Amino acid sequence: MFEPAITGSGVFTPALSISNDELVVAFNAYADRWNAEHAAGIKAGEVEAMAHSSSDFIVAASGIERRFVLDKSGILDPDVMHPWLPERDMDQPGFMAEMGVDACRKALDMAGVAAGDVDAVICAASNHERAYPAIAIEIQQELGIGGFGFDMNVACSSATFGIQAAADMVRSGSIRRALVVNPEICSAHLEWRDRDCHFIFGDVATAVLIERADDAKGPHFAIKSTRCATQFSDNIRNNNGFLRRTRPGHMDDRRDMLFMQNGRKVFKEVLPLVSNHIAEHMADTGVQADDLKRLWLHQANKTMNDYIGRKVLGRVPEAGEQPNILQDYANTSSAGSIIAFAKYSDDLSPGDTGLICSFGAGYSVGSVIVERAG
Ligand code: COA
Repeated sequence: MFEPAITGSGVFTPALSISNDELVVAFNAYADRWNAEHAAGIKAGEVEAMAHSSSDFIVAASGIERRFVLDKSGILDPDVMHPWLPERDMDQPGFMAEMGVDACRKALDMAGVAAGDVDAVICAASNHERAYPAIAIEIQQELGIGGFGFDMNVACSSATFGIQAAADMVRSGSIRRALVVNPEICSAHLEWRDRDCHFIFGDVATAVLIERADDAKGPHFAIKSTRCATQFSDNIRNNNGFLRRTRPGHMDDRRDMLFMQNGRKVFKEVLPLVSNHIAEHMADTGVQADDLKRLWLHQANKTMNDYIGRKVLGRVPEAGEQPNILQDYANTSSAGSIIAFAKYSDDLSPGDTGLICSFGAGYSVGSVIVERAG
């Protein structure tokens, strides 16, 4: 058995970002047009008018101030209200592969590892731009990696589930090194015309390199323990898939073909699930609240993270103990906790313990207990 460790991490951040104010202007223009088109029905009381969104609400309800996106023009055009990401030719890299490769290169550079020395690529994300061949295999080829690659999807928990899969393979000796990569194009599965959720998501890609702790060339994070759990729920759902072609009717206007959530229920049900999961994981591995120097939590909602931080530590976390990146990136699904980890982990000292935790649709929750070393 070998001890697995995270020796490198990388973040690809798109060049474009949208502030809440810009987003709200576009949404409100769309709502005004929609209301004008449906004026007769609204007047007759047959349809409900679409209410305006507001930046103040978005910050108060979520903590989100802006989000990075691959395309801005389509999202902010009231006639379009989705990103323009034209389909690429077969001989060009896919969007997910391209952003994933960038994040992987950064993780490899940080670890001082050549791509040729990696044995596996796991592309763990909440949506994949095609059914097959796997995005992971395309990333594998782009980077010149041997071995194998595969895609997996556990929605917002994909990164921690991917880390557990890779860590177990490194621990057993079946592979020596793996890249776990999370390219998230959330802008393409968000319904930007739905006031309740139009502000929630952004685009990003993250990657971590996992190898034997003994192979680490510099400071790293030994993976002490991982734990995953799932429990079926419809409260976060996206029905889009290949079966849509086999059903009658005009599919493009079906609301269930994009991200849908019952946000309030998610809030209420996921909080105890996550807090209990972390508490049990810590108890079973002998980690006390006082031992935890940092929490890198999934970034969906600031109030949720504040609550989980308080529950896990038994007190209000001090500044820096539970870094949020949500204000700048919004919810980036599986990538959120890894962005926080990549940006806020350098300053820990050898022997310091931290916890990465992601949670979301499924429901799903994954936690990774790490210790700074080297
Ligand atoms: N602008 C202005 N007001 C808005 C609005 C918007 N964009 N969206 C909703 N509102 C209003 C509603 O109309 C409602 O008004 P009312 O009380 O007069 O009826 C009020 O704000 C509360 O709406 P609600 O949807 O209950 O807000 P909330 O405080 O629960 O926040 C979420 C919404 C989605 C941010 C929050 O529930 C959440 O983050 N849940 C968890 C989500 C999550 O983690 N999902 C995981 C995805 S991976």
